[in-house]
Amino acid sequence: MSVTPAELYPAHHDELLRRYSVALQKQAYDGVVIFAGSPHPVFQDDRSYPFLISPWYRQWVPERDHAGSLIVLRPGERPRLVCYQPRDYWHVVPAAPAGFWPGHFDIVSAGTPAAALAELPDSLSGWALLGEADPALAGLGFEAINPEALVRRLHFDRLYKTAYELACLGEANRIAARGHLAAGEAFAAGRSEFEIHLTYLRAVGQTDAQLPYANIVALNEHAATLHYDASEAAVPAVSRSFLLDAGADCAGYAADITRTWAAPSETAFGELVALLDEAQQALIENIRPGVEYLDLHCQMHRQIAGILAATGLVDMAPDDMTEAGITSAFFPLGLGHHLGLQVHDVAGKVAGPDGPELAQPAAHPFLRNLRPVEAGNVFTVEPGIYFIPQLLEPLRGEPAGRAVNWSAVEALLPCGGVRIEDDVAVTATGAENLTRAAFAELAA
Ligand code: GLY
Ligand code: MN
Ligand code: MN
Repeated sequence: MSVTPAELYPAHHDELLRRYSVALQKQAYDGVVIFAGSPHPVFQDDRSYPFLISPWYRQWVPERDHAGSLIVLRPGERPRLVCYQPRDYWHVVPAAPAGFWPGHFDIVSAGTPAAALAELPDSLSGWALLGEADPALAGLGFEAINPEALVRRLHFDRLYKTAYELACLGEANRIAARGHLAAGEAFAAGRSEFEIHLTYLRAVGQTDAQLPYANIVALNEHAATLHYDASEAAVPAVSRSFLLDAGADCAGYAADITRTWAAPSETAFGELVALLDEAQQALIENIRPGVEYLDLHCQMHRQIAGILAATGLVDMAPDDMTEAGITSAFFPLGLGHHLGLQVHDVAGKVAGPDGPELAQPAAHPFLRNLRPVEAGNVFTVEPGIYFIPQLLEPLRGEPAGRAVNWSAVEALLPCGGVRIEDDVAVTATGAENLTRAAFAELAA
């Protein structure tokens, strides 16, 4: 059996202590307070938006309901956790800390915001605050709030996942894979987007608010809207295709998986799905430390050109097709992004822990990862071939558009598009596909 997050947490905690000590020393802060955040009220209403805890906090404390809590960290000392547990009969109050992590903190419980703030050091000069601070917290005299240089370094560190984080990401993939299998069956049974969405939630055992991002449950041409979120309740007259981009959470770490299905009658679309799936796996074979993520993105453009040529959608040599910008009309986004505490995880566009920002290539405006591939990175690989009228129409008017077999493209418009997305962990010599491993485990 693989090692559990619980067994790996002590080394993760030690590594966080080390990273924060280095970062605070380099930026000359005495200590840092990490605020979990608090719920945001809805304008002129007595409700709040779903509470999303700060990723900085959750990297240390794998709980999602610690609104108002604070971590107080001074290098060389044991971290303190001020756990905010109000006496409240309207809302659920966080349970007493339990599980594998509390033994690593000195914990005090605070029943009111004032009691929580009273637990902070008397003087906060020399201290940084990390988090989305309300005025009461921000007005306490911190030396700095979310200082850019400190944030940049801590974000950069998050590019290198600890063994604990890899275990959480693997488990998030196993949970999400269960949902994908159930959703695929619901599609085959002719269900609506909304029903498929509910099937997914039931299979993963997470609510909408607990998922790392809003599910994309897209039947037919809806798959051509890249972040489609309408979740139609009506069953369509015919279900030709189904794109599901849906993840899961494990202790704050995200899975981000997309699968695309074709109805048996949609043979041309089914062929595209199979070819893109093959191309995606072939590309992942090339991942190892030292290659540039931008090069992988460009390789995928060439592979997509090969698929467009092989299926007769475009009559042009693949290299000329990428040169002419034709693949960008079918694959208009980036190959993927770093993944971790945030689904689009941080630091994909910085050169190093002290910066600078890397320049966005003009030809690839949506690529979120401009860094070289390194051991410990986790990112998605999510190529797509989409039939988006808004992007195809201009191509039709250009000279390059003459190479496109427009009747074949039009026949595929009702299927929307295909995306295949896996989460990949880079090892010292190659890459481990967390998503395929999760599906294989379920199949076994
Ligand atoms: N699920 C959002 C994305 O794939 O980036
Ligand atoms: Mn993604
Ligand atoms: Mn996704």
